[in-house]
Amino acid sequence: MDRIAIQGGARLHGEIPISGAKNSAIKLMAASLLTDAPLRLTNMPRLADTRSLGALLKRFGTEIVERDGEAGPETTLHTPEITSAIAPYDLVRKMRASFNVLGPLIARTGHAKVSLPGGCAIGARPVDLHLKALEALGAKIDLHEGYVYAQAPRGLKGAEIRFPFVSVGATEHTLLAAVLAEGETVIHNAACEPEIADLAECLNAMGARVEGAGTPTVRVTGVARLHGATHAVTPDRIEAGTYAVAAAIAGGEVRLTGARAEHIRALLDKLVEAGAEVSDTNDGVRIKRNGARLNAVDLSTDPYPGFATDLQAQFMALMTLAKGESTIRETIFENRFMHAPELMRMGADISVSGGEARVRGVDALEAAPVMATDLRASVSLVIAGLAARGETVVHRVYHLDRGFERLEAKLSACGAQVRRITGDAPEPGSETETED
Ligand code: EPZ
Repeated sequence: MDRIAIQGGARLHGEIPISGAKNSAIKLMAASLLTDAPLRLTNMPRLADTRSLGALLKRFGTEIVERDGEAGPETTLHTPEITSAIAPYDLVRKMRASFNVLGPLIARTGHAKVSLPGGCAIGARPVDLHLKALEALGAKIDLHEGYVYAQAPRGLKGAEIRFPFVSVGATEHTLLAAVLAEGETVIHNAACEPEIADLAECLNAMGARVEGAGTPTVRVTGVARLHGATHAVTPDRIEAGTYAVAAAIAGGEVRLTGARAEHIRALLDKLVEAGAEVSDTNDGVRIKRNGARLNAVDLSTDPYPGFATDLQAQFMALMTLAKGESTIRETIFENRFMHAPELMRMGADISVSGGEARVRGVDALEAAPVMATDLRASVSLVIAGLAARGETVVHRVYHLDRGFERLEAKLSACGAQVRRITGDAPEPGSETETED
């Protein structure tokens, strides 16, 4: 199992190009099932998660061609015919977002058998809202032996759907099914994350009629069929936010090219409040910190446009070295502080009670061997390592590989001393956790 070693203390100077968003790319790949024509996705990130979903789609009959186009990596997905509408446990468990193939499979073929994803390291993460929405659209759903059996032999029908709370996945899943349903679907209390607008833009390019994506009310007028299209994946706001925090903790000046400042405004505002310099540039965002210690700031995670839960761990790493005490509330997932004990092993002073963590800034962190159980927690340890004294070794790098493309290369290009150690290392636990 690979590890990442970080020799702390180097300031960061340079440019980090931001890749296409993982959490958009995997829903866009699922959207390709809705048509028998090719869907070409440009600005595609090359990640373990996109590979996992690709392996699942191939089982349904999808042909996948990857190439390096003029504007970077691209993937064309083409499913002339759905040859099987079964998504087995082993593949859905590996990446729970692959559950979102259920809606497109029902919409295209009228039936599907898809494994329930189960819980994951950051919370129980039920899919009840997904299933209720699909039922509202007319699918008959049976749960049996860990699988969802869905039937809609006469097709799906538009419906009025009101979510009791905001869910990114359920909003996307509803969209993915409703575009081919007969009549109008209205989604109330829809998630507003940029990945939803990106999915809607791609679906509309394929001939769908979706209005209001990115706002709490989304209207879909069903169409009989969709066609092929070319769509550029939106930049990864979580990757951009992560490197913004990396620059703030290490000090120096970094340009995040391709990042969209408006997608990470809540984070950038917190960085400014803490004392970092942030400026929008014509091709991205610039983050600068010279010398002075940052101030502690409080935050609460919230659905977009609030502070993203996927950036909470990284910001906590930053706060471990701030002046004063920071209160961090996690409101989206019930178990998303697993990075706190690992940061404490590096000398951080953190106490966690329920959904709230109190971080009292310390003068210095000390390198240690650390590991985490999910992607964003893992990268928070890399961030802490950038500022710690000595060499931090982060285990379970497969988590990072799920969602960060060429992490060590991107950081090293800015002067960080980060290297990958390949091969086995004595390390407790196994690789069996699931997550997003
Ligand atoms: C997406 O997960 C992202 N994953 C997550 O990123 C992200 O943290 C999350 O949205 C919130 O922004 C992908 O896009 C692949 P939710 P998702 O449905 O869609 C509860 C990462 O690191 N809920 O908005 O699963 C749920 O348990 C990952 O890239 C239900 O109760 O998130 C959670 O508490 C981690 N029933 C809350 O809603 C449901 O049917 C919000 O979850 C669905 C969700």
